[in-house]
Amino acid sequence: MTRPKVFVTREIPDAGIKLLKEKKYRVVVAKQDKPISRRELIRGVADADALLSILTDRIDERVFSAGSRLKIVANYAVGFDNIDLEAANRHSCIVTNAPAPEVSESVAEHVVAFMFALSHRIVESDRYTRAGKYHGWGPRLLLGSDLKGKTVGIIGLGSIGKMVAQQLSGGFSMNIVYQSRNQDLEFEQRYNAKYVSLSDLLQQSDYVSLHVPLTKETHHLIGSRELRLMKKDAFLINTSRGPVVDETALVKALTKKRIGGAGLDVYECEPLIDCDLNDKYELRLLDNVVLTPHTASATNEARQAMSLLAAKNIVAVLENKKPITPIS
Ligand code: DGY
Repeated sequence: MTRPKVFVTREIPDAGIKLLKEKKYRVVVAKQDKPISRRELIRGVADADALLSILTDRIDERVFSAGSRLKIVANYAVGFDNIDLEAANRHSCIVTNAPAPEVSESVAEHVVAFMFALSHRIVESDRYTRAGKYHGWGPRLLLGSDLKGKTVGIIGLGSIGKMVAQQLSGGFSMNIVYQSRNQDLEFEQRYNAKYVSLSDLLQQSDYVSLHVPLTKETHHLIGSRELRLMKKDAFLINTSRGPVVDETALVKALTKKRIGGAGLDVYECEPLIDCDLNDKYELRLLDNVVLTPHTASATNEARQAMSLLAAKNIVAVLENKKPITPIS
């Protein structure tokens, strides 16, 4: 009997790879540590039974047609906007994502880190100190604000949104308001949270944190109208997907100090930080933003757990069982 081939588009932490090898699958991992080219992707899936993809791989009709034996695409990410689910359906290919609990913890901690960095002006203070500007203690030097007692608005109540609430409501006595497709009474009771409309959330929150998947409905969910509704000193935090925010509108709002600042882990034209490099508004030049390179889930714990979950999904499907975290 031929061994099933699993094609992995980029090196990932080894927990899942070990499992796939223990199962005696033929595991082929793309060699280079950068996004795979279209050509290599098409070539790699040609005789593959399973594909372990990452979020920068575009998995579309062409890939599904080329991978005629593919039974599963296991995306190494919580998000799956890189995969054409209709094409997957047409080819009867199962798609899974990797929402391991460790990812929620890691991303939620990153959100909290952004909140601290912005409120306590950590990055700005670091730049200031390194630049040799510190010449003695001052009562008003780099004044920030505390988290305690403030309101955080969570948009999207999946496992990451809930984890943000868990981490903030206990430790820092923050008030939680949220907006989501469905109201969750148990969540409200547990964290004393309030279900509010998007407009109310934007008007009431000191921190707005985005946790929605990127879909047609959530594209530019936050644009100039929404930014205008936010408090003048509120912070916007995006660890979901860049295009959920109209970045041009955001940069204008930040430049004109219509909001307090932003913590961004994702970008509209990723990996570019500014979509329009010739634009006069530049995200990178602003002091009131903290930027990270899509690393909210980049902890060993989270990335190993994602690796293992992606592999377990593959094993389940290749053994004709139900996958653990199916998308379609
Ligand atoms: C995800 O999982 O979707 C993150 O964006 C990357 O880990």
